[in-house]
Amino acid sequence: MRTFPRRGRMIRALPHNAVVVEIGVNQGEFSQTILSKTSPRKLHLIDCWEEHHEGLDYPHDGFYAKQADHQSNFDLVRQRFAGPIATGQVAVHRGYSVPMLETLADASIDWVYVDANHSYEAVAAELAVLLRKVKPGGVIAGHDYISTPYWKERNYGVVEAVDEFCWRHGWELIGRTTGPGWDIDQSDNPSFAIRQKGLPPLWSWSREWLRLPARRAA
Ligand SMILES: C[S@@+](CC[C@H](N)C(=O)[O-])C[C@H]1O[C@@H](n2cnc3c(N)ncnc32)[C@H](O)[C@@H]1O
Repeated sequence: MRTFPRRGRMIRALPHNAVVVEIGVNQGEFSQTILSKTSPRKLHLIDCWEEHHEGLDYPHDGFYAKQADHQSNFDLVRQRFAGPIATGQVAVHRGYSVPMLETLADASIDWVYVDANHSYEAVAAELAVLLRKVKPGGVIAGHDYISTPYWKERNYGVVEAVDEFCWRHGWELIGRTTGPGWDIDQSDNPSFAIRQKGLPPLWSWSREWLRLPARRAA
């Protein structure tokens, strides 16, 4: 397992020229980082951009925005990525994460960054779908892998959902970030990266990251 000082460094070590999904886009700050650091062949951006009150969310969080703010965030993202949207490199999917993920083909995603609703229930539901949608040997990464009292009070359950998923399905933590920092590329909450145990590496980066002998590399 490797630690990285910040999430921008971690995703730079993930496959480039890949099929990537970001779940939870907001204003597209980290989407921009993904684009510039990893040049994805295809980047799917999924966000509901919708005010919601289902109780599973994080009401104390600044992202619990009013509908007008969500609409302007959505407009901003479409404007910000107008070029890559026009070329087909970026696809914007407005809707809730689980139904939007279901529109993607099974075993089509190289890696994904999960950063939407941070409740246990929401993350567990996303991981259950991603199990089918991520290519064998692919990576599920995400934000807010934290379980301190401050965040538990805010209904965060990322650690619980990710750890349970790994235990149930034979995945393992292969990376996490330390911090701290407030810059978007140095977001203070840790990020994680997990991968199914025992599968041969799909990409040359895996040999270095997973410290596998050269002969086992793809
Ligand atoms: C923390 S922000 C994403 C920040 C972004 N990843 C970044 O680092 O710049 C969370 C976003 O997730 C979206 N969201 C929350 N729950 C969602 C769900 N169930 N499905 C899709 N999007 C959701 C919110 O609309 C919000 O824009």
